[in-house]
Amino acid sequence: MKKWLLMIVMSFAVVTLPSLAAGDIAAGKVISAQCAACHGVDGNSSEPSFPKLAGQGEGYLYKQLLNFASGTRESLIMGPMIADISAQGLADLSAYYASQKVTAGLVSESLIEQGQKLYRAGNKETGVPACMSCHGPRGAGIPAAKWPALSGQHARYVEMQLDAFSQGDRNNDPNDMMRDISSRLSADEKKAVSAYISALH
Ligand code: HEC
Ligand code: HEC
Repeated sequence: MKKWLLMIVMSFAVVTLPSLAAGDIAAGKVISAQCAACHGVDGNSSEPSFPKLAGQGEGYLYKQLLNFASGTRESLIMGPMIADISAQGLADLSAYYASQKVTAGLVSESLIEQGQKLYRAGNKETGVPACMSCHGPRGAGIPAAKWPALSGQHARYVEMQLDAFSQGDRNNDPNDMMRDISSRLSADEKKAVSAYISALH
């Protein structure tokens, strides 16, 4: 538990550092035409395995795009998609999606209770910290630390990422944070917390 507390404290230290690239929202909107088929015109995708980008932190988006470009985060779809876009273009896209508003989904009652408990309190028996401590009580994340917003994200995409982290297929998380946490979750817990997150706002 101490380890998580330390990381959370460290994230607030990061907040004071300047962010790297300054993105231009209007320029990003123009390039985003290339992304709209999968992520929606305003970053609210309709296909549940394609992530919503609307309202996501600018720094987190930019980090993911650089990770896709370098292969640090492997994706057969996203790698080639952005190969020809300049670093400035990626920063502009990040600014554009961060400026949009995410729409929350609906969740079946049966999953809410277990999902909410895990999100807000974690699971002491298995050493899972509360998701809330890094992703925020309402899922807004900690933008300045590049810790992602989760509110309203498609349950299907969230569950896929938890599986990818726990299997090590996604390994671009600092200090193995998400690989460690997700490997402690049961399949039922992943499903419940993903459903809860999709309705969180
Ligand atoms: C053909 C569909 C498709 C297109 C077009 C597409 N994407 Fe994606 N995008 C995906 C998929 C699928 C993922 C999830 C990848 C994974 O985790 O394996 C993704 C993931 C992302 C992520 C990571 C989001 C997160 O929450 O971590 C960002 C950022 C992103 N895309 C931005 C873009 C941008 C910018 C463009 C346009 C230049 C674009 N995408 C075009 C399908 C697409
Ligand atoms: C110690 C801080 C911390 C805790 C606690 C934490 N996360 Fe994360 N999470 C992160 C960070 C940092 C990332 C971004 C990794 C990266 O840079 O790609 C992340 C990424 C994610 C993503 C991928 C988001 C996307 O858009 O692709 C999901 C899903 C996620 N976390 C779910 C959870 C769930 C569910 C819990 C609770 C069981 C949880 N996290 C607890 C720090 C944390």
